[in-house]
Amino acid sequence: MTTLDALDATEPSGLVTSRRPALAVIASLLRNPLQAMPPEVYRERLVLAKTGGRTSLYVCDPALIQEALTKQAAHLGKGELTRKVLGPVIGEGLLTADGAHWRWQRQAVASGFQHERLLGFLPAMIAAAQATRERWRAAADPLDIGHEMMRTTFDIIIETMLSGAQALDVGRVERAIADYLEPTNFMFAYNLFGAPDWLPYPGRAKARASVRYLREGLGGLVAQRRAGGERRGDLLDMLLDAADPETGRAMSDGEIVDNLLTFVTAGHETTALGLAWTFHLLAKHRDWEAKVLDEIAGVTGGGPLGPEHVAALPLTKAVFQEAMRLYPPAPVITRQVESAFTLGGVALEPGMVLYVPIQAVHRHERLWERPDAFDPARFLGDAARGRHRYAYLPFGAGPRICIGSAFATMEAVAILAVLLPATRLDPVSARAPEPTLKITLRPKRPLLMSATARR
Ligand code: HEM
Repeated sequence: MTTLDALDATEPSGLVTSRRPALAVIASLLRNPLQAMPPEVYRERLVLAKTGGRTSLYVCDPALIQEALTKQAAHLGKGELTRKVLGPVIGEGLLTADGAHWRWQRQAVASGFQHERLLGFLPAMIAAAQATRERWRAAADPLDIGHEMMRTTFDIIIETMLSGAQALDVGRVERAIADYLEPTNFMFAYNLFGAPDWLPYPGRAKARASVRYLREGLGGLVAQRRAGGERRGDLLDMLLDAADPETGRAMSDGEIVDNLLTFVTAGHETTALGLAWTFHLLAKHRDWEAKVLDEIAGVTGGGPLGPEHVAALPLTKAVFQEAMRLYPPAPVITRQVESAFTLGGVALEPGMVLYVPIQAVHRHERLWERPDAFDPARFLGDAARGRHRYAYLPFGAGPRICIGSAFATMEAVAILAVLLPATRLDPVSARAPEPTLKITLRPKRPLLMSATARR
């Protein structure tokens, strides 16, 4: 077995060690955390990064990712840093909790994501996309496609999970999330050299105001539903009715707000980013766009999209899957080792941080042919057969896999199938957009596109 201290350049286990000066890593963390990852993650199996006295392990080999996130999942927790960064907004809700506290929350909402129930959400998904289509007809050019998709998916999450509650204003929520995420690279950089929590950083006051806005808005909604006594059978009701099987206790208002915010934020921003990148890629690859348009026309006969059409659009789905391969909306999974175990011959000790760099796995030289090329055929027919299942994991894997994966895919296909036949989008700038990591994978500058009605 290999112990971490004994390692050097290359080991037979496929492990390489990347040593970079802390200052260089901090500088790239502040500029764009995506570039702070060791470059070896795009070609090696396991990369041990030693920076500023901290050691972390990047797991890039699909078999080892599977082992870590499924078989060894009990040894791993979400960790201090995740809770430090996300805790102020989403507390210990489903995304950030561990152990028994995570398990009962997951059970409490699982039935809300069963296939039959998701099918019932399709009319709301299509209606939100149609509203966007109408808005675009009257909109001034150019469109900020990221913002447009945030609006669309926000309407959907509020309609489907919160029965259309009016408590939050989409524009303010979008700004609040962006303001909150903006300084997260400072949090990561400070963490690297163990800076105290009180150390100021730019954007901190704005980030705190965002948290207040988001939590107060949803807190008001919980109070209103409790006081009104009416039942809607939505996510909020599921949370209000949940009982911990071990203790029988219900969720406090604070815990319900943690979860509502988890679902409102995780449930719309990621899908919106995936869609924004999809529109960007289709505008660059008109051959694929033409195939998507043909598929949609063939299924709908040129009429309006109905809920029954969405499952019959495999090519449209493949385009979205390929966009999420190149631009995974949640590009890095982070875990902290809670109890010792061995991975790929490497002994991992409690406290160590383990990363699954999804974005690098998706563009890994040894896993994909022409890794940087857009080719949705990778997700059609038998193309995936020779590929390890964990070479592609935009929704994560194991017990913590995204609970909304089927919801998001269905929603994305429905939105594309409503908007693409109605509107042609052209990028305003010829400059390639730069993706940056702010927990999610966002374009550094807005993706501006001009819209022309097709019919
Ligand atoms: C394209 C869209 C989406 C992407 C790429 C995405 C990605 C992910 C990933 C990678 C994880 C696992 C994180 C980890 O292991 O640390 C996750 C978890 C989660 N996602 Fe999503 N997600 C998307 C859409 C959604 C939607 C639509 C919802 C809700 C309606 C949602 C709710 C959640 C929740 C609650 C978790 C935590 C699950 C748990 O820990 O049990 N996500 N998501």
